[in-house]
Amino acid sequence: MRAVLLLGLLATASAVHLDFSSGTLDGWTHSDDGKYSGKFVVASPEGLDAVKALKVPEKAKHYGISKALPEAVDPASDLVLQYDLKLTNGLSCGGAYIKFVTADDAFTPSGLKDDTPYTVMFGPDKCGSTNKVHLILRHKSPKTGEIEEKHLKMPPMVESDKKTHVYTAILRASNNSYAVLIDGVEKKAGSMFEDFEPSINPPETIPDPDEKKPEDWVDEARIADPDAKKPEDWDEDAPRTIPDEDAQKPEGWLDNEPAEIDDTTAVKPEDWDEDEDGEWEPPKIANPACKDAPGCGEWKRPTKPNPAYKGKWSAPMIDNPAYKGVWKPQDIPNPDYVKDPAPLTNIGKVGAAAIEIWTMDDGYFFDNVVVSNSEAEAAEVREKSWAPKKVIEDAKEAEEKAKAAAKAEAEKKKVETTQAVDDKLKQVVSTIFDLPFLKPLEAQLKPARAFFEQRPVCLLGMLTALLLLPVAWLLTSRIGSKTQDEVGEAKKQDATGEDDKPEEEEDRDYYDNLLWTGEEIEEEEEEEQPKAGTRRRTRRD
Ligand SMILES: *[C@@H]1O[C@H](CO)[C@@H](O)[C@H](O)[C@H]1NC(C)=O
Repeated sequence: MRAVLLLGLLATASAVHLDFSSGTLDGWTHSDDGKYSGKFVVASPEGLDAVKALKVPEKAKHYGISKALPEAVDPASDLVLQYDLKLTNGLSCGGAYIKFVTADDAFTPSGLKDDTPYTVMFGPDKCGSTNKVHLILRHKSPKTGEIEEKHLKMPPMVESDKKTHVYTAILRASNNSYAVLIDGVEKKAGSMFEDFEPSINPPETIPDPDEKKPEDWVDEARIADPDAKKPEDWDEDAPRTIPDEDAQKPEGWLDNEPAEIDDTTAVKPEDWDEDEDGEWEPPKIANPACKDAPGCGEWKRPTKPNPAYKGKWSAPMIDNPAYKGVWKPQDIPNPDYVKDPAPLTNIGKVGAAAIEIWTMDDGYFFDNVVVSNSEAEAAEVREKSWAPKKVIEDAKEAEEKAKAAAKAEAEKKKVETTQAVDDKLKQVVSTIFDLPFLKPLEAQLKPARAFFEQRPVCLLGMLTALLLLPVAWLLTSRIGSKTQDEVGEAKKQDATGEDDKPEEEEDRDYYDNLLWTGEEIEEEEEEEQPKAGTRRRTRRD
């Protein structure tokens, strides 16, 4: 006990924090394997100009890159893995996980392959219905030496918005617990012994693989009662149906008329060859005599279900007295059983970080890869390196949301204002048309009233026109003294032109003029009105 404590104190916590602040790959090396046609680049994510990260620049490619850690990290005293991931264009189908490669002197980053052994594989993977943050340990049985992938059951889902998220996996040696955090928030946690599949510790017993089902084992749970006998009165030969004796031949049935007769109008084709085609017979047609009769030819009695019909007799089923149940082999002690009290001592040291993925998306950014023995250290990196990104991205998001909200609000106000103006004008319309001296003209004014009630804004145009008329008249009469002839000429032309138009069109021009004037006035008064005016004009068209 004391020795364990002492070891715990002596163990120097090692921590590796890999970033791309140098603007270069900084020792990350692409695999030489020709499979990996995708090549990572170091770039700044959109909106995070001060940040440099490892970017997936092209979609639909395999990528393989890794970096050896300056010193292997031993998971025996807790293992904490962490990295930032930004999915600029989302994650429709692909992996964005990191393989924490098992320390091995023979490993070189350029030799990375898809089956390079890892200690832990951790991070997002999404495609179709798959959506998980993998946490897979490659655990070596202390008994058999066999290495098996242990997958976290029901892993958390990927954070697939476009902001930077930090993924953290914690494997604790102290109590063999684990936790998966996203953005520092625990998404899943529990016991390493309970939540992985296959189980880190194999079952204590297994079904005996050598046992065979005995030859005389009875599998049938139910059988036909061997003692049952066919009842005396059971007639197996009774027909299913019998003639319906109650049926009667319909009145007017023509017994002596066939349903079909020869077509007497048909003639033998000229090229008919009796030797080859056989004797010619005229084709049959429906007998016209039967057209109005209920039927022709021999009347046949219909049938009905036979109440005495029983069919073949069979014995009822009973429980099989000889049934022994479903056969299964006996459980025997599992020869591979081992209770590994410290699984973290059997997953290997972490010697490198590798991104070995295939993806249908581009724009992933990996950053701040942490391999550590300390939760606190990982938390510190989150605080120092991820939190500032969050501040910027949250601010940008808030700004965009505020913009969208302001736009929606302005839109709403515009509609409200238009409504309010419309309502006011409608009141004025009512007041005008309700004037007592207009009462006798009520019937004649009805269409006009309806028009203005529907498009109250035209009232403004109308009133303006009325106001401007005297002014215009004054102006023309003044200028008129000089250009009397020109104006006269223009007026004449204008009048002729208008007169040529059909009445309906004339009406429309008149209203359009009003509408146009109405809109102009409105724009001067209320900046946010032009849309309403436009809409109205369009509606009339
Ligand atoms: C294991 O210990 C950690 C603290 O060291 C604690 O947060 C966690 O809840 C424990 N888990 C279990 C399953 O005991």
